[in-house]
Amino acid sequence: MPDFDADLPSHIDRVLTDFLQRASARIRATEPAFEPAVDALSGFVLGGGKRLRPTFAWWGWRGAGGDPAGDDAEGVLHAVASLELIQACALIHDDVIDSSDSRRGSPTVHVAFAARHAERHWLGSSESFGRAAAVLIGDLALAWAEDMFAGAGLPPATLEAARPAWRAMRTEVLAGQYLDVRTQASGDASAEAALRVDRLKTAAYTVQRPLHLGAALAGADAELIDTLLDLGGDLGVAFQLRDDLLGVFGNPSVTGKPAGDDLREGKRTLLLALGLAYAEEQGRTGDRKVIAEAVGDPALTDAEVDDVRQALTDVGAVAEVERRIEQLAAGALRSLRRAALT
Ligand code: IPE
Ligand code: MG
Ligand code: MG
Repeated sequence: MPDFDADLPSHIDRVLTDFLQRASARIRATEPAFEPAVDALSGFVLGGGKRLRPTFAWWGWRGAGGDPAGDDAEGVLHAVASLELIQACALIHDDVIDSSDSRRGSPTVHVAFAARHAERHWLGSSESFGRAAAVLIGDLALAWAEDMFAGAGLPPATLEAARPAWRAMRTEVLAGQYLDVRTQASGDASAEAALRVDRLKTAAYTVQRPLHLGAALAGADAELIDTLLDLGGDLGVAFQLRDDLLGVFGNPSVTGKPAGDDLREGKRTLLLALGLAYAEEQGRTGDRKVIAEAVGDPALTDAEVDDVRQALTDVGAVAEVERRIEQLAAGALRSLRRAALT
């Protein structure tokens, strides 16, 4: 009997590899010229990632009574692994939206396909071709997510029970992404706007809906699902707030991202929102200026990042974000205890 609990990431990779091989073979036989697109998607999905969403979904299922030795276990594995294909779509499109050149140390899909166009001296703009390919490959990922979920091999009633979570997950990540670009475009620097983005883009999409989906596959009742949604909301926002702190203060050798990149990119985090608001309230115009001028400056130097760190610390924004993380983590633990009693 395979030990799904202990080796979850390798089982998720196994079913993803298997699904991608079968889906790729079918379309390859119909249209060989589509092969590079299909290979790019497989490479993206299998080339890395923490498998966070399938893991939350699996443990939502286990927590709600799913039996890893039971008949449904392999099907549940397929259903939860399909969340990685939604994530592939979200990230491939996100890199177009954010004009990002690299992800996980490799060129992003639109950049790779622009290079492909340029190498072959094809007609028209390489960048447009790259973006077109990335839009389509992202769409392919979303279409295959549906195929993998629906074809997971679970009884129709089991799948149907998880449909509300599945539908909500797909819609909420899009709403969160839209809110994110809207917040950046409108220059909305409020804490409320940052938190709304965190609630949809991170908490709902990464923690709440995966937990909900897994629990629903195990036939959880509304009370348990509500408790898991509470837990996931707190945990998801806490996770994002920690990520925001790491984006400015993190050690690049641990995070794998250059320190200060969130600032250079102009990410509107709660940390920044509070930094600006507190500096204003305290009449610290120097600190306010240091923070405001750093956001979205692609040429920000390491010394300037240091100044922003100092300003965010001095006005009390770092301490407040730490306090909120603690509060949210405590809330999540309370929900977990409540879930254990239902
Ligand atoms: C990631 O968003 C994409 C989704 C949540 C769908 P970001 O743009 O904030 O994150 P990275 O830094 O590109 O991964
Ligand atoms: Mg991005
Ligand atoms: Mg983005």
